[in-house]
Amino acid sequence: MCGIVGYVGLRDATPIILEGLKRLEYRGYDSAGLAVVEGDTIAVRREVGKLARLMELVDAEPMSGQIGIGHTRWATHGEPSRRNAHPHVGVTGEVAVVHNGIIENFLQLRQELEAEGRCFASETDTEVVVHLVEGYMAGGADLETAVRRALTHVKGANAFVFLSSREPDRIVAARLGNAGGLTIGIGEGEMFVASDIPAILEHTRRMIFLEDRQMAVVTRDGARVTTLSGEPVTAEVHTIPWDPVAAAKGEFRHFMQKEIYEQARSVTDTIRGRADFDAGRVRLEHLELTPEKACSLEKVIIVACGTSAYAGLVGKFILEALARVPVEVDYGSEFRYRDPIINENTAVLAITQSGETVDTLAAMEEARAKGAGLWSIVNVIGSQAMRLSDGYILMHAGPEIGVASTKAFTASLVDLYLLGCYLGELRGVLERAQLRHLVNDLARLPDMVGRTLNHGDEYEQLANIFYDREHFLYLGRGINYPIALEGALKLKEISYIHAEGYPAGEMKHGPIALIDEAMPVVTIAVRDHVYDKMVSQVEQVKARGGIVIALATEGDEDITTKADYVLYAPPTPPLLSPVVNVVPLQLLAYHLAVRRGCDVDQPRNLAKSVTVE
Ligand code: AGP
Repeated sequence: MCGIVGYVGLRDATPIILEGLKRLEYRGYDSAGLAVVEGDTIAVRREVGKLARLMELVDAEPMSGQIGIGHTRWATHGEPSRRNAHPHVGVTGEVAVVHNGIIENFLQLRQELEAEGRCFASETDTEVVVHLVEGYMAGGADLETAVRRALTHVKGANAFVFLSSREPDRIVAARLGNAGGLTIGIGEGEMFVASDIPAILEHTRRMIFLEDRQMAVVTRDGARVTTLSGEPVTAEVHTIPWDPVAAAKGEFRHFMQKEIYEQARSVTDTIRGRADFDAGRVRLEHLELTPEKACSLEKVIIVACGTSAYAGLVGKFILEALARVPVEVDYGSEFRYRDPIINENTAVLAITQSGETVDTLAAMEEARAKGAGLWSIVNVIGSQAMRLSDGYILMHAGPEIGVASTKAFTASLVDLYLLGCYLGELRGVLERAQLRHLVNDLARLPDMVGRTLNHGDEYEQLANIFYDREHFLYLGRGINYPIALEGALKLKEISYIHAEGYPAGEMKHGPIALIDEAMPVVTIAVRDHVYDKMVSQVEQVKARGGIVIALATEGDEDITTKADYVLYAPPTPPLLSPVVNVVPLQLLAYHLAVRRGCDVDQPRNLAKSVTVE
């Protein structure tokens, strides 16, 4: 997962940047690099593999200067290689950039720049930005203005840090959307920039967090923050405690809140290196799957517990749609005792954040004993589930500390989508154009998740209204019915409010008896092929005096005449919509729990990893 570190001051930038990158190693990466202004040129060193290799390169070819930027890269566009590693410099070598995120429209930008005669040195999306900035600087703009202009062309959730040998006293940092944070560290006569607090915490505790669509010009004397369009911003300076746990929480009150807000970035990290946007394909190298094996698959059985099991229910919709393979979903605790029908053409897919959930592990062992192929989707690298599997897909969600799972859930959904695309191609189900389209949809996903996180105070308002209710009902349909189950689970786990999730069509077969003015009904009524059916459920609840909180698609005004309260999410391609739609339900649960004074990160009776039966 990409990491960024920058330094401007009086000390030698190189060791400070390398040390900072080292502190971000836990995030995972496949190559690294740094750029330092040496006199009137920019020196760049880049290397594939571990940071130790970059350090050896720097030892062999020393560089020194008082301003520099560094990066650890997890490949999205183009293989891990020296030329694809960051920083990227353009044609003049006067500008360098490091970048986290995905430039959604990079192909179009690249074609336009190539048509103007610009030659590209890498396969990355990042390089288009450096060419754009160089172009504006060639026309007379300073670095800040050139960055501002260049970024008007860029779509997607992205964080960038630039420097230029023409203006060797400044770093320009900019954030668009929620692909990841950018933190400015304030030192004594020196300043730092980082994607993550731990990278610079040993140098300073005083930090500014750039918000969406803000940029900062950072010199050794301080940082000037503006919006991307140039309006000045008075940035709040946060003092980060030395306590490493509190430090890791950063600007957030709880880990769960932090993890909810990290999702645009964790989704990006999950996509990285697997979705090949140039080729319009997906690569899942650790799955160890051949086209022959994929074609001989007769059934997939997903085994998991809790939130991971709900991810599995979404997975059934995805895998059946994209790979046309029948999918069963079972709780680990049930599967192991039910004598399931399995043969060598069955794949059992375990989904587990921790990789240590005993019921899931036991189900995997049962499947192995019966001769099934074993796959897992897992977050913790080296966990038992990963080691037991014949093939695995990592979530790349980063450490999840809050007991209630959030970013691991969305990462699992993205992994299932990647698996659907991969199997769909290997099994000859998906046409080339269809596959390319599905892969392209992934590029827009981080931005959609980011937009869902950019909201006003509607969740706090709802929490103030409903915090003392004893029961909630959640309804969803089709691929969003598991999201209703997950929304209800989140609420009960952290707020101790009793909540039930149901497929909406089942309401009339029982839960309708519960409807009254005391129990809020949360309905996922987004614009999809079951929208009309969901609206009719809303009407049925209203006809019985119930209260409806609807999750609707941005721009849907009709729903406001039917539901009592409306939360909005951006329109999203159907198979990816659960990734976006779960976010408002996570926020609702979070704010209700906070309003009730609950211990959000460590709810009573729950453990992060359930290692007993
Ligand atoms: C999620 O919020 C829960 N705490 C719980 O349901 C969890 O998803 C379940 O225990 C499975 O954990 P795993 O993904 O680590 O296997």
